Amino acid sequence: MEQAISDHFSPLETIGFLSEKEWKTRVSSTISTRMKHARFPVKKRVDDFNFPFQPTIDPTVIRDLMTLRFIQQSENVVFLGPPGVGKTHLAIGLGVAAIEAGFPVLFINASVLIERLKDAYRQDQLDRYLKKLVKPKLLIIDEIGYLPFDSAAAYCFFQLISRRYERVSTIFTSNKSFGDWGEIFQDHVIAAAILDRMLHHCTTLNIRGESYRMKDRKKHDVLSIQQI
Ligand SMILES: Nc1ncnc2c1ncn2[C@@H]1O[C@H](COP(=O)(O)OP(=O)(O)O)[C@@H](O)[C@H]1O
Ligand SMILES: [Mg+2]
Repeated sequence: MEQAISDHFSPLETIGFLSEKEWKTRVSSTISTRMKHARFPVKKRVDDFNFPFQPTIDPTVIRDLMTLRFIQQSENVVFLGPPGVGKTHLAIGLGVAAIEAGFPVLFINASVLIERLKDAYRQDQLDRYLKKLVKPKLLIIDEIGYLPFDSAAAYCFFQLISRRYERVSTIFTSNKSFGDWGEIFQDHVIAAAILDRMLHHCTTLNIRGESYRMKDRKKHDVLSIQQI
């Protein structure tokens, strides 16, 4: 109001000015609440990703994903590759873009997810927990394959994938190629059923490159050797 008075705003300009401020505050507080609810371990942006460093990633595919059409069409995304190639970075980057576009997002590590699913199953609460997990328009399940799933875990995971299938989007990251998923689930039949649903409407990025973490380490090692 002080600014409106000092800048001699007309009544209409004053109302416009105040409503715009109110609108911007509401949008940014919704985004920051959703960002908290998403539980990203760190905040990453696709814009900060160094594409020339990772030539097996086609930037046009990422640009297409950044339109977030895959979320509108309830499709999935899978990032495969060895440690340090940017799977989690890109998954979070897409998640942050999704929140900024107004979609609710949840990030969860696969091992944590499995423990929670199994706890819910044991307490006869699986259905309730699955209902919660179907709500986010985008669920990011990070690091599938670092730890094997036992048969209860595979059953719960299958239930989750079936419920989200063709309704909402999921991003998966894994260090294991699909051929090794039977090993992760310790059951080839259930692994095939999970993959069948996951991959039906899906963009898969197979990243075959060097670890970004090693790049910095190598530079650091060279520097320390030079200092010696
Ligand atoms: N091409 C890249 N450009 C910029 N930063 C990268 C790139 N690849 C990886 N990083 C960074 O390196 C670290 C490891 O990447 P991360 O996404 O966790 O790898 P992954 O999940 O594949 O193991 C993170 O801090 C990430 O931001
Ligand atoms: Mg990772």
